[in-house]
Amino acid sequence: MTTTTPQTSAYAPTDVESDVECDLDADVGVDVDPQLVAPDSAPPRPWWRDAVVYQVYIRSFADGDGDGIGDLAGIRARLPYLRDLGVDAVWITPFYPSPMADGGYDVADYRAIEPLFGALEDADALIAEAHAAGLRVVVDVVPNHSSDQHAWFRAALASAPGSPERARYIFRPGRGATGELPPTDWKSVFGGPAWRRVTEADGSPGEWYLHLFAPEQPDFDWTNPEVVAEFHDILRFWLDRGVDGFRIDVAHGLVKDPALPDIGAEQEQVLDAWAGTDHPFWDREGVHEIYRGWRKVLDAYAGDRMAVAEAWVKSPDRLARYVRPDELHQAFNFDFVETDWEASAFRGAIDAAMSVLAGVGADAQWVLSNHDIVRHVTRFGGGSKGLRRARAATLLMLALPGGAYLYQGEELGLYEVEDLPEDVLQDPVWLRSGHTEKGRDGCRVPLPWTRGGPSFGFGGGGSWLPQPGDWGGLSVQAQDGTPGSTLELYRLVLALRRALPALGAGNGAFAWEPGPSPDVLTFRRGADVVVVVNFGAVPVALPAAGEVLVASGPLTAAGELPADAAVWLRTN
Ligand code: GLC
Repeated sequence: MTTTTPQTSAYAPTDVESDVECDLDADVGVDVDPQLVAPDSAPPRPWWRDAVVYQVYIRSFADGDGDGIGDLAGIRARLPYLRDLGVDAVWITPFYPSPMADGGYDVADYRAIEPLFGALEDADALIAEAHAAGLRVVVDVVPNHSSDQHAWFRAALASAPGSPERARYIFRPGRGATGELPPTDWKSVFGGPAWRRVTEADGSPGEWYLHLFAPEQPDFDWTNPEVVAEFHDILRFWLDRGVDGFRIDVAHGLVKDPALPDIGAEQEQVLDAWAGTDHPFWDREGVHEIYRGWRKVLDAYAGDRMAVAEAWVKSPDRLARYVRPDELHQAFNFDFVETDWEASAFRGAIDAAMSVLAGVGADAQWVLSNHDIVRHVTRFGGGSKGLRRARAATLLMLALPGGAYLYQGEELGLYEVEDLPEDVLQDPVWLRSGHTEKGRDGCRVPLPWTRGGPSFGFGGGGSWLPQPGDWGGLSVQAQDGTPGSTLELYRLVLALRRALPALGAGNGAFAWEPGPSPDVLTFRRGADVVVVVNFGAVPVALPAAGEVLVASGPLTAAGELPADAAVWLRTN
């Protein structure tokens, strides 16, 4: 995960509908021209190669039982919404029993459901209902660490140093005369040291254990075959229940340098600042052997089961290593998350990702937002400008080869809630940073479904984080059927992406085309789709031959593409 500092103050429009109106081509609705539909002869590709996957952050999507926390019942009730949105799959963040020290990424039992979210039967029903609705289901698996309440960790604490129970985690004696110093100088991602000392059964101060994240998230020792076998079994448990894939949490962190070297300078804790190729815990060579094993588990099942890596690595070529043919199917491309609103930066990110992925026969999986990142409306400048850019970025992203991951609420144009009161914050980043970084709660505020009512239709009661007062105007109800709304834009773009042979499963060739200025990106997909994105400050003329399929916002009176806007054109 990464945390990104918001660039602007909170965006708080009072009249969102008038703010976001755009001029969608009336001739191109969701009833797409039959001539545009991919021919039957198109070669079949596995569903995941170009899928659009919708990320559900379960606590904040929909609350079925009115306790203020989203749950499986809420997701089940909203499956028709996701089907109608036009996505191919839904990824659900961890729903396992958890003390919630890190929003469920501290898993106490990998084969059960957190009671706040429902029961195993609800998960089974959700999988069946999603499949019936034509949606695939991807679940989160968290292999780097468990909760400190997991039975294995409790057994480790109750057992002696050197025991097989301790060998499933990374326990080491401390340094210093009495072991009073941590084994290394490593820092936790959430702040503070990455080691915590335990008290042994006889009451004496004892060994230290490694936690790259919160102290409640002890790291597994992946050199232990028992850990390897346990996760193969966990994967099979969910594959047997019918899931279509896994999102692998912290996929780049599982293997640590057994020599446990100190890191030294503070900034080198961060992989980006690491000069060498062998960081002691990020992106080490050994992780690839683990995923080769996972691939064999997945390949033993029918039905194109897949896995996608959350791997924050240093460069596209390091990322490509995770998606070599005998490893994982996908890895998130986080480049857009770290890219300013600037044409050359986007072009560079696209070129870099596509060229190295082609070398291993994989596709890019584009991401603009997720539950760890400041929402992109806010990252791109906030307010109506941020929303215009976000909508343009969506047209750019969904026209690129490969797949895309959408984060719940981006289809509503939701912005980062930057002014959450301190007493509601739950992200461990807030606590571990000594209350200096607010953390990620601002992108996790529950979705607004209705214009009014308690929690804007999120559930029957409250919501675990307060929603901004103007979110009724951004709700599904307010945008449903409203011409030019962000929701209708997403629906239209997703329907076109499915229907156009050049896009999505059609997998048309990609080529840059000359544009009117360096601030404009123009590319062609297949024979007949051209995409133009204007990152600049002034309107630009569109290519002469082209029928507008969809625009992210209204064209100018002269028919030009304004600043911060994008368009898909059909050129013959
Ligand atoms: C991943 C998750 C993030 C979590 C962290 C530790 O980065 O996306 O939410 O805090 O892993 O599990």
